[in-house]
Amino acid sequence: MDGFDLLVINGLVVTASDTANYDIAIKDGKIALLAPPGVLGKESAKRVIDAEGGYVMPGGVDTHVHLEEPALFGGKGRSSDTFETGTRSSVCGGTTTIVAFAPQAKTIPSLLAVLEDTHARAKDNCYTDYSFHMLVGHPGEQALSEFPRLRELGISSLKIYMTYEALQLRDDQILDILLASRREGITTMIHAENGDVLNWMTRKLEERGLYAPKYHATSRPQIVETEATNRAIALAELMDAPILVVHVSSPSAAAHLRTAQTRGLPVYAETCPQYLFLTRADLDRPDFEGAKCVCSPPPRESAADHDAIWLGLANGTFTVLSSDHCPFMYEDREQGKKSILSDAFPEGRFSGIPNGCPGIETRLALTLSANRLPLQKFVEVTSTNAARLYGLYPTKGTILPGVSDADLTIWYPPGRLGSFKLTNSMLHHNVDYTPFEGVELNQWPRWTILRGQVVWDRDGGGLVGKKGYGQFVRRGKSTLPGPRKSGDWDVSVF
Ligand code: URP
Ligand code: ZN
Ligand code: ZN
Repeated sequence: MDGFDLLVINGLVVTASDTANYDIAIKDGKIALLAPPGVLGKESAKRVIDAEGGYVMPGGVDTHVHLEEPALFGGKGRSSDTFETGTRSSVCGGTTTIVAFAPQAKTIPSLLAVLEDTHARAKDNCYTDYSFHMLVGHPGEQALSEFPRLRELGISSLKIYMTYEALQLRDDQILDILLASRREGITTMIHAENGDVLNWMTRKLEERGLYAPKYHATSRPQIVETEATNRAIALAELMDAPILVVHVSSPSAAAHLRTAQTRGLPVYAETCPQYLFLTRADLDRPDFEGAKCVCSPPPRESAADHDAIWLGLANGTFTVLSSDHCPFMYEDREQGKKSILSDAFPEGRFSGIPNGCPGIETRLALTLSANRLPLQKFVEVTSTNAARLYGLYPTKGTILPGVSDADLTIWYPPGRLGSFKLTNSMLHHNVDYTPFEGVELNQWPRWTILRGQVVWDRDGGGLVGKKGYGQFVRRGKSTLPGPRKSGDWDVSVF
């Protein structure tokens, strides 16, 4: 067979299920063939990429990304990456598909209007393929009635919050959403922190003059996350609805998730590099620099907490490892400082800092360089499972001939790059820092390929993709196990 557009030769092909030496042939944006090395002649394709023994993996899928969002997460400002700059940064870090949020504020009754507005922002601006989760802030009658139409439009997931003044839902509102989501085959992502408790703790800390960024962690101890996680699981079990608990930081919350999973409940979990590489000590960096690491839940205490989260990735408690890319310029984070700066409190005020860290470009290299996951598990949690859970599989998240889009991340041969330090100057996001500055790396994507087109060529021009090449992807239902009646009640009665 000949007439391929691209051959990727001499790679070690790693998917969630297999690791083997194959050459990959690509035609019309799709994976056409996998063949033993050397079987497909170089002359059979218009272009040949020699991976020289580097890993060839399905393109990264990052399903937790905030772009162009108003600061609904405390503080002021707007997430500083647009769809253009955020997806640009994404391909440079090996991620070919993102799912960003379409945020519904409490004042807006219609989700469809929010979706239309978010489409307009993304259209013709993206370097990656993309979709949206609805971020539901106002689950009124109108919003709930729009769920079937959202499914027709290819949206099969939403996110809700148990915290943040602008977004926090009551338990009865969460039940409304879970019931409607279950009916339509929508997966509900839940930010599980007890907002009432952490607001109370914040007030108490501030009454005592404890304003510095490090007190962000004091205001949100693990039990704040653990209680909410447990409650989220109970509400989901009551409604027999699949959930994913997002950005889990706490080993004790992870233990509750694991217990639910071993009971066979469709309870999924996500963690992020923040909870593998940052600790509470990072919130205490001098000169208010700790503000760069303020996210919720907060980075936890120690290496032992990191170890527990790595273990949860390895043993399947965590379904996905996302970035939770939520970028704010440092000057926006300094609002916390400006809002309180005085002789009495020169260290600034943590509750005025918008929450969230940038990380869309660093997620894959940080995690692979740490060398703490088997390669297939790395692919599973950074690409395949996200595609499965959010209805993108097997078009995305794997390398299946005749079926999958030709989305590939090709790494350097192991050892080729040596050891080097991550710096913000290497990155392509619109943020003036990375919280991971100085972390030691030994890998970076050498090429990123999206639907057969090279969009990142680190040694041959860097960013070579074109803005607007990224397409909206209509998503179907999750292909991971769904509702499964577990209790002595019948949800259909509701
Ligand atoms: O602190 C965080 N995680 N900020 C981003 C918003 C969110 O809750 O995901
Ligand atoms: Zn969240
Ligand atoms: Zn987030």
